[in-house]
Amino acid sequence: MSKLALVGGKPVTDNLLAGARLTTRSDLERQYLLEVLDSGTWDDWPGVESMAKKFENEWAAYNKSRFCALLTNGTHTLQVALETLDIGFGDEVIVPGLTWQATASAICDVNAVPVMVDVDPETLCIDTAKIEAAITPRTRAIIPVHLYHRMADLDRLIPLSRKYNLAIIEDCAHAHGSQWDAQNAGTFGDFGSFSFQRSKLITAGEGGALLMQDEENYWKVVSQRSCGREFRQGIKVHSGNYRITSFQAAVLRAQLQAHAVNAPIINQTGLALDAAIAEAPGVQPLRRNPHITRQCGYAFVFLYDRSAFDGIEGKLFRKALSAEVGYDFTTTYTPLSHSEVYSPHQKKRHHLNRSYLEAITPSRWNLPVADDLWQHRAVLAGWGIFACPPERASLLTEAIAKIHLNRNELLRMI
Ligand SMILES: Cc1ncc(COP(=O)(O)O)c(C=O)c1O
Repeated sequence: MSKLALVGGKPVTDNLLAGARLTTRSDLERQYLLEVLDSGTWDDWPGVESMAKKFENEWAAYNKSRFCALLTNGTHTLQVALETLDIGFGDEVIVPGLTWQATASAICDVNAVPVMVDVDPETLCIDTAKIEAAITPRTRAIIPVHLYHRMADLDRLIPLSRKYNLAIIEDCAHAHGSQWDAQNAGTFGDFGSFSFQRSKLITAGEGGALLMQDEENYWKVVSQRSCGREFRQGIKVHSGNYRITSFQAAVLRAQLQAHAVNAPIINQTGLALDAAIAEAPGVQPLRRNPHITRQCGYAFVFLYDRSAFDGIEGKLFRKALSAEVGYDFTTTYTPLSHSEVYSPHQKKRHHLNRSYLEAITPSRWNLPVADDLWQHRAVLAGWGIFACPPERASLLTEAIAKIHLNRNELLRMI
């Protein structure tokens, strides 16, 4: 009789998250939403007291940032940050090759060129050792992404940016409340860009925010989100409309209160899950830089070594693990060199000239580390897994050990 759940055996657990322990505040979401409705101030208009303004202040305070501006989403935040820095045609911006397409497409949307750098095989974030080779006289900025379950190496990024006079826009779409040396993600670079899209740790369905420490940059952002109007004398930047509604801010305020409670729990559970992986055969946790004092990841990720499983592909291992613990494991984004959702060269708007078109064609980039992670090595679970009580993390060790012991059952399926 089969032992593995994938082939009909009894799973290690049918619910890894039994006793889940993350807080939600739907009561407050409802309360704040009704406040907005009754107030009649449904938008986010400069100079008008609104729920959006309240959340901006609270998000700035939570992150200990001087300024915060809410915008429509975490793609527009990147685009507006780039335009605030006056980055455009003729410029290059360095990005990791493994990220959501928005990190790079925002660069194309300002007519600059995203230059892809491969990622660190043990953190999945941009490989800082490979950045210098990608810098040219046209390079203006780096957009490091604090991807999934780790932060990009800020201790190496900040000196590099100073050495070459490059701006840093931290893409924090996966890092709400993560900390490096007790300082919040998004406050190290010129800008910290956040998304509040449905899958994120804090969400209003859609939404985005920029953190920044420079006042002039703040007013440039405020001008750009409101059609290029001049709200501070002498500061206006031609733009469109990137305003959020106060209904979204109402939900975000309540979500932030829940997140403030959850953030240390997410960090603690992440450590427990890492420890459980370290105990299991044929897998390893991501390397955690000791400067990370709080990791509030968007996903939990660990690394799989198929040679320890007689060559069984990561895809089958992930299916077997999902079946053992009643929780879905998947892999990373497709690397941008061949992502199904990243094809800026196919858009007429980007056909500026032949050399630009060649420069933004994704297939020009070779990203072997990202490819290997995506295809073979990464095992990823959505951030809901951080609700797992730490004492249940050992079920993961048990499940992986069980798959390892009974790998013949999987080999027979191939
Ligand atoms: C790393 C990263 N950057 C940027 C974004 C863009 O955010 P939004 O969906 O709010 O536009 C996302 C969204 O998934 C993301 O994962």
